[in-house]
Amino acid sequence: MQTNLRNRDFISDLDFSKEEIETILDVAWDLKRKRALGEPHAYLRDKVLAMLFFFSSTRTRGSFEAGMAQLGGHAAFIESRTTQISHGDTEKELGEIFGRYFDGIAIRHVDWGIGNRYLNLVAEASRVPVLNMQCEKYHPHQILADLMTIMEKKGRDLRRKKLVVSWAYAASYLKPISVPQSLILQMPRFGMDVTLVHPPEFALMPEIVEQAQELARKNHASFEIISDPDGMAAACEDADVIYAKSWGPLMTTTDPAEGKRIQDQYKHWIMDREKLARGKDDVIYMHPLPADRDVEVTSEVLDGPHSVVFDEAENRLHAQKAVMALTMS
Ligand code: CP
Repeated sequence: MQTNLRNRDFISDLDFSKEEIETILDVAWDLKRKRALGEPHAYLRDKVLAMLFFFSSTRTRGSFEAGMAQLGGHAAFIESRTTQISHGDTEKELGEIFGRYFDGIAIRHVDWGIGNRYLNLVAEASRVPVLNMQCEKYHPHQILADLMTIMEKKGRDLRRKKLVVSWAYAASYLKPISVPQSLILQMPRFGMDVTLVHPPEFALMPEIVEQAQELARKNHASFEIISDPDGMAAACEDADVIYAKSWGPLMTTTDPAEGKRIQDQYKHWIMDREKLARGKDDVIYMHPLPADRDVEVTSEVLDGPHSVVFDEAENRLHAQKAVMALTMS
């Protein structure tokens, strides 16, 4: 068990080794059990986390804020638009100053080509851990909760389990590509066979795909990409886990109008009963939420017996509490 996580940043999924991720999951299950039993677990008494948001959130804000309170500390909710960032506060100033006020700095910044750099610059200047609440490249805390959920449903040995990471159509907005990218980085380390399926315009960052392929090779897992205008249904064949969600065609265009025009060609990429039925009998359906209900995924699937989306959302709380307790204590 590797326990040396104190004062470490968590910005990329690969910032912690596989053994360190296993430690986080062990702690997360312990904290989940303690909460179920009503056992106090105030490991962060008098500690304060800054939560800096450049983008909206329901689950991330709620789970970090509740998690800090349950650990005996406090979380300060800070929206970038009500700070002096727009009047010139730099990343270095944020890191230096918040690093002196707070015991951890959590940031959500998903702007294309800006967010990840922002987090890293704050981290360089900060004396306390920087935690990624989602940038345009990674959503590591979501994927920790996903991994925890998959292990709860499928057992801790995930080798040779088939995970389908599928693009799905959405009408609301061009969603970030950070969730599929973090999934394809983290899951091969645990031996899952990953199938990534999307229409041709929805490719992920080439450097992330190369890293994922290398991690799959090292861990004796398979990694397949299906780039096909009609690939969704066939990809679901024999799946243990189907993770179907939307993301924008951001490697093709960052223009919202052009992205929407491209996206609108693929309205048939909805996760429905027929596609789910291609999976194994005990297939689970996952989505980080929010989902475009009956557009991205049918209500029948989202609310059906194979869906684990609420357990997945709950595990954000336990997984993040484990990260905070281990990095901020
Ligand atoms: N899954 C997730 O990150 O949800 P929020 O955008 O509501 O935080």
